Amino acid sequence: MFIRSYGCQMNVYDSERMAELLRPHGYRSVETAEEADLVILNTCHIREKAAEKVFSDLGRLKPLKAASNASGRDLTIAVAGCVAQAEGGEIQRRMPLVDIVVGPQSYHRLPEILARRDRLAGGGVDTDFAAEEKFDVLAAAREAQGPAAFLTIQEGCDKFCTFCVVPYTRGAEISRSAAAIEREARDLVEKGVREITLLGQNVNAWRSAPAPGGGGGIRALPDGSWGLGQLCRHLAEIEGLARLRFTTSHPRDMDDDLIDAFATVEKLMPFLHLPVQSGSDRILEGMNRGHTAAHYLTLIDRLRRARPDIALSSDFIVGFPGETTEDFEATLALVDRVGFASAYCFKYSRRPGTPAASMGRQVAEPDKEERLARLLALVEAQRVAFNSSFVGQELPVLFEKRGRRAGQLIGRSPYLQSVHAAVPQSMLGKIAAARIVSASANALAADASAAREGIRVF
Ligand code: SAH
Ligand code: SF4
Ligand code: F3S
Repeated sequence: MFIRSYGCQMNVYDSERMAELLRPHGYRSVETAEEADLVILNTCHIREKAAEKVFSDLGRLKPLKAASNASGRDLTIAVAGCVAQAEGGEIQRRMPLVDIVVGPQSYHRLPEILARRDRLAGGGVDTDFAAEEKFDVLAAAREAQGPAAFLTIQEGCDKFCTFCVVPYTRGAEISRSAAAIEREARDLVEKGVREITLLGQNVNAWRSAPAPGGGGGIRALPDGSWGLGQLCRHLAEIEGLARLRFTTSHPRDMDDDLIDAFATVEKLMPFLHLPVQSGSDRILEGMNRGHTAAHYLTLIDRLRRARPDIALSSDFIVGFPGETTEDFEATLALVDRVGFASAYCFKYSRRPGTPAASMGRQVAEPDKEERLARLLALVEAQRVAFNSSFVGQELPVLFEKRGRRAGQLIGRSPYLQSVHAAVPQSMLGKIAAARIVSASANALAADASAAREGIRVF
């Protein structure tokens, strides 16, 4: 099988889970579509470009499918992910070579769908919204690949930002139970995982079910339920787990207890991706973000008080309908004020069915281009400044994988920076202090001698 991911971390997560589900059924991962008898395109609908890539990739698979049919070999093509959810019917109409369409909520049924297809030689669209047993099926098949793992704790979104398709492709917000999350986390740690990143489209909207009759400890919410801060405290007690992270958060759900967790939970790493999208209140309102620029800045101040070294990251959209030069300047001012460790910047993309797509005063493409270039330059400068500030310092690095050069390992700092170091292979999966000798926009380097001298294994 050959699986391609087009989207966010949850999309990549889903691809990994699909591979795990199919392995016991005799599917083995291969490097190219040419070698595969099953190709899964795990698609993303967030921006026009991402969604269109799928159709051009499907076009490229046509000759492959024809050749395999001609040779009597059966090549199955499946479209999964958020485009499947949003445009399942259209895909099957436009692209008859697609055998299976499966949405993000039903891909755990892939083994069954493939088996049924074998028996009936028929296709199938499965994009039902039933969160039901999905997580249990996935957890049971879970393998650990390396010392850092993702764990989905929350899915879906009820926020309905006017530009965004996610509430339509991923459905309503749902939270997994604390007990199921703890079980999966312990299982991962037993399999050698040292760092867990909790995942959710709105991960900090996670809530445990209300405790019967309220209660649930001093940190619990009035109805006895837990928020993400309390879940972090709870998971941090797992022995052998060294690091916790979570992504992606929404400013509206950044509550006091979660901010407090950054001050008090040592295993919670000092990095937070907190998308703000724009620095202009007028635009934020048009986006239905439910927060102002000032509210965001207050959150940042409080986070920095709780954890002075916290590294911050964000998403930005330039050229949202009605965005003027002044609005855009307000975004630059916000970036200047915060000082981000990294940020993702996007040109607004009109998505069918979302309220912003039919708003007046759409911004012209050249203006979007120009604003994007200016924002990217500012963000890049901040990223370089942030990374450079560590040169000469020692950082604890969790070594996750082999680098491209022989004898090189790549790991992550607490601030989610990639660190390249010439250290022995035996350091894989371990956390060690490495002295940083140089920095670029994308990575830090710890040189061989510095790493050898400076290394302390935790
Ligand atoms: N749930 C997360 C992010 C979801 S999508 C959040 O609320 O922040 C990831 C990012 O894609 C968004 O933060 C936004 O910056 C960008 N994005 C979403 N829809 C977009 C659109 N129509 N055009 C351009 N960028 C978009
Ligand atoms: Fe999309 Fe907004 Fe939900 Fe994030 S919070 S997934 S941007 S609708
Ligand atoms: Fe894309 Fe779906 Fe993720 S639209 S960004 S793959 S939730």
